[in-house]
Amino acid sequence: MTELDGIPTDGATVKALDRAHVFHSWSAQALIDPLPIASASGSTFTDYDGKSYLDFSSQLVNVNIGYQHPKLVAAIQEYAARMTTIQPSFANDARSEAARMIAEVAPGDLNRVFFTNGGAEATENALRMARLHTGRHKVFAAYRSYHGATAGAITMTGDPRRWGAEPGVPGIVHYWGPYPYRSAFHSTTPEEETARALQHLRDLIMVEGAGTVAAIILETIVGTNGVLVPPPGYLVGVREICDEFGIVMIADEVMAGFGRAGEWFAIDHWGVVPDLITFAKGVNSGYVPLGGVLISDAIAATFDERVYPGGLTYSGHPLACASAVASIRIFHEEGIVEHARGLGTDMIGPELAKIADRHPSVGEVRGLGVFWAVELVRDRATREPLVPYNASGPDAAPMVEFAAACKQRGLWPMTHFNRTHVVPPCTISEAELRDGLAILDEALDIADRYAS
Ligand SMILES: Cc1ncc(COP(=O)(O)O)c(C=O)c1O
Repeated sequence: MTELDGIPTDGATVKALDRAHVFHSWSAQALIDPLPIASASGSTFTDYDGKSYLDFSSQLVNVNIGYQHPKLVAAIQEYAARMTTIQPSFANDARSEAARMIAEVAPGDLNRVFFTNGGAEATENALRMARLHTGRHKVFAAYRSYHGATAGAITMTGDPRRWGAEPGVPGIVHYWGPYPYRSAFHSTTPEEETARALQHLRDLIMVEGAGTVAAIILETIVGTNGVLVPPPGYLVGVREICDEFGIVMIADEVMAGFGRAGEWFAIDHWGVVPDLITFAKGVNSGYVPLGGVLISDAIAATFDERVYPGGLTYSGHPLACASAVASIRIFHEEGIVEHARGLGTDMIGPELAKIADRHPSVGEVRGLGVFWAVELVRDRATREPLVPYNASGPDAAPMVEFAAACKQRGLWPMTHFNRTHVVPPCTISEAELRDGLAILDEALDIADRYAS
């Protein structure tokens, strides 16, 4: 007998209780049909009917280490037996070591960590730190972005999830980031896109007033809104603008960090050191909720003699931090960052290029590591998206049919607007990846029916 005996073990009861009592995120409650999941292992999860899905979404692009990694599960069990909770004002071994290890893999002088429970609280606190550090209040955030669902984070978010929370907090100014395939600047080359996107930022600073701008936040590689890899020179250019005007550069690496892009932090691809990095998701693959802000020495020093006005009951939760320690050790031992990088260059990139050749509905493929997007169009020449921006109902049918075809064949895709993302766990094997890409290839025949 354990205290967990009696939890329902049949899918029908799990679902009935969910429908009666669980209120779901981002959903019209009566219109959803949550699939009850019985188990998960490696890159696969399984429902109560025994049907398995190869996960090309890493859940919400967070299960970087894969499901139920035995060493990570064992470390959580071990630490739970030692200390399940202690409040943030005490010093705790797991927290101290997690902070040290995260700072060790971070670029530059990002030597301090403020721990949170997830990504939104990380961006929320980065926003507050930047404002207090600079004494300014405006923050520039990209239209094509997601930064979380709390007040400041959702106001910084550029995608439609922001609309329901408006008017939001004051002082957030949205900008267009680079996106060569659908340039807001009518550019025709990546270099031109970089130059024009940087000029756009300079123009905004001019009209908003440089002395009012605390921070520019960006997802190093824009995640849910398209796996937008910045064109050459863009991040270096943003760094230069921030230095010129005394603006804090915040890299939101909640999705892009911890191996996803084939580096510890995606920004390592460009050798740029931001002032703050937000992280969550891949830091411990969500086995226990954890996020945080990596803080430069200069910003940390602002709060040497002055109180930082922020905190959380579970900041640096010992069980979460112990799982981060174990996860980062496993990443080192098993070469997971290198594995992710190799999968991108040796398999996903080349295979998606072949898929793009075969399917008229594929407009562009792009990405790094295990962080890829396949952008679907009705017409390659006009680049008309397969479904409109933020499509729902019948407008979204082509994407819904494509996703259903993947699921029917045992692949769980991540779709967003007119794209499907290839974002499996960083630990996926080459054989599994090949199987998943073969299913994607087949399912894209559905999208082709809508393309000319
Ligand atoms: C780039 C980015 N920032 C912040 C968040 C918010 O993280 P959380 O859902 O843990 O609050 C997400 C979540 O998807 C994200 O992708």
